[in-house]
Amino acid sequence: RRDAELASDLRGRRVLITAGGTREPLDPVRFIGNRSSGRQGFALAERALARGAEVTLVAANAEVRPPEGVKLVTVSSAQQLAQACAEIAPRHDVIIMAAAVADYRPVTVAEGKIKKEQAGEELTLTFTRNPDILQDLSAARGSEQVIIGFAAETETDDSALLELGRAKIARKGCDYLVVNRVGWNLGFQSDENSIFVLSASGDVVSRHTGDKVSVADVILDLLVNV
Ligand code: CTP
Ligand code: CA
Repeated sequence: RRDAELASDLRGRRVLITAGGTREPLDPVRFIGNRSSGRQGFALAERALARGAEVTLVAANAEVRPPEGVKLVTVSSAQQLAQACAEIAPRHDVIIMAAAVADYRPVTVAEGKIKKEQAGEELTLTFTRNPDILQDLSAARGSEQVIIGFAAETETDDSALLELGRAKIARKGCDYLVVNRVGWNLGFQSDENSIFVLSASGDVVSRHTGDKVSVADVILDLLVNV
């Protein structure tokens, strides 16, 4: 569609976007993290703003600068992200969970640096599950809220990828799931992204390959006339 048409099609919508990757602390100087840069979430925020939405961006350790004009909330760990979302989500019409959330966190966070002398030749860490933010928000949502999740999968076969996506959206209870293929050199740090969008019934409602800005517009198109 033309730019003029896109300029205001999300006017008045309050959109919450999470971006980046959480870090789970091990000790005061170390964490377990992931390779999410925050680029896709920031592109979503930028395009939602440009299309007239009010945007709150909850960013976890993003490597890029947030677009001007968003309400920015910064967090680091999955628990902090969960808390921020629980507080902020009820004031929004749309939630887009683009953040890569750690599934597990270390059971204990050492008060001081973990020392080799104490750990010896092997270090064993024990992890516990983090809350599933998307699932919890979907379960608690108001009837008017639209919730979009992401699924980063390393599966290379399209039909297997979609099967994983269908199982995932059924589990999460969100309205749409953006399935994207990731790998050592795919998705995370790059500017290109390839996506399928699944609806709650498991249908592919759109597919797209392009830079993260064009991917953002395809995702935001889901909100028009909803
Ligand atoms: N997500 C979340 N809270 C978590 C884990 C994931 O809100 N603790 C969200 C992500 O932001 C994403 C979606 O759930 O929007 C799917 O994340 P993904 O890691 O693909 O799914 P998981 O359910 O964690 O399954 P798995 O990693 O085992 O494939
Ligand atoms: Ca996960």
